[in-house]
Amino acid sequence: MADRFEEENEKRGMIYPAGYRPQAPAGAGDAQRPDPAVRNQLLNSILQQKPSPDAVPVDTDLFAVMAARRSTRKFADRPVESEKVDRIIAAADTAPTAGNYQGFEIFLVRGPDTKRRLVPACNNQPYVDAPLVLVFCKNPARVKFDFPDYILRKFAIQDATLAAGYSQLAAQALGLSSIWIGMFDEQKVMDVLGTDLVPSSVLCVGYPRQTKYPKPRRNLSDLVHVLW
Ligand SMILES: Cc1cc2nc3c(=O)[nH]c(=O)nc-3n(C[C@H](O)[C@H](O)[C@H](O)COP(=O)(O)O)c2cc1C
Repeated sequence: MADRFEEENEKRGMIYPAGYRPQAPAGAGDAQRPDPAVRNQLLNSILQQKPSPDAVPVDTDLFAVMAARRSTRKFADRPVESEKVDRIIAAADTAPTAGNYQGFEIFLVRGPDTKRRLVPACNNQPYVDAPLVLVFCKNPARVKFDFPDYILRKFAIQDATLAAGYSQLAAQALGLSSIWIGMFDEQKVMDVLGTDLVPSSVLCVGYPRQTKYPKPRRNLSDLVHVLW
């Protein structure tokens, strides 16, 4: 028999996509479970989950998370827990978007064969076959401003990119690591995903096989320009 979540999902017109339903917070009884009809309630329950003995460890020091993040191309052979997947996706959904039109969509690539087919679409980068693969796609049709198409496309690429950045930091905060893939053949990725939406980035996530030190960055004088 379908549980309350599935019934609500059907009734309200598929709040959850086929094949993905966020986990209820660890240890939550039925009364504390988020109402699936309230999108933000669900999001908040994932993001604000209070630490408990069996909760996911999260580094809540944002700047420490930023400072420690490094690209990882070697992942341990260990799956990413579904609770972490939920948080990484929820983080993307908190990102600002142009007009709050949310001009992007995420493809959660679950199938091992589909992941493998993404490798040649991504310039044969083998680490694309990672434990967690998220493809962030632009959807300018969601952006309902009365502006020229090129502006809507510009908004959608910013929406998708920013959301992926939020997910990347969330992954780091959850003890995971990631590699941002920008080198891909758009059409080949679209063919693998079976979508008309154009990808903006592929975020590959997993447990790192090794800890890395931060990379050097340029001098501040090359970064910041001061105007009066
Ligand atoms: C827009 C963009 C595209 C990127 N594309 C790739 C890619 O296709 N393959 C790859 O291995 N790394 C890619 N990277 C990761 C960068 O190489 C990496 O972030 C950079 O070297 C800095 O290293 P760090 O992330 O460890 O600080 C990309 C990063 C960005 C932001």
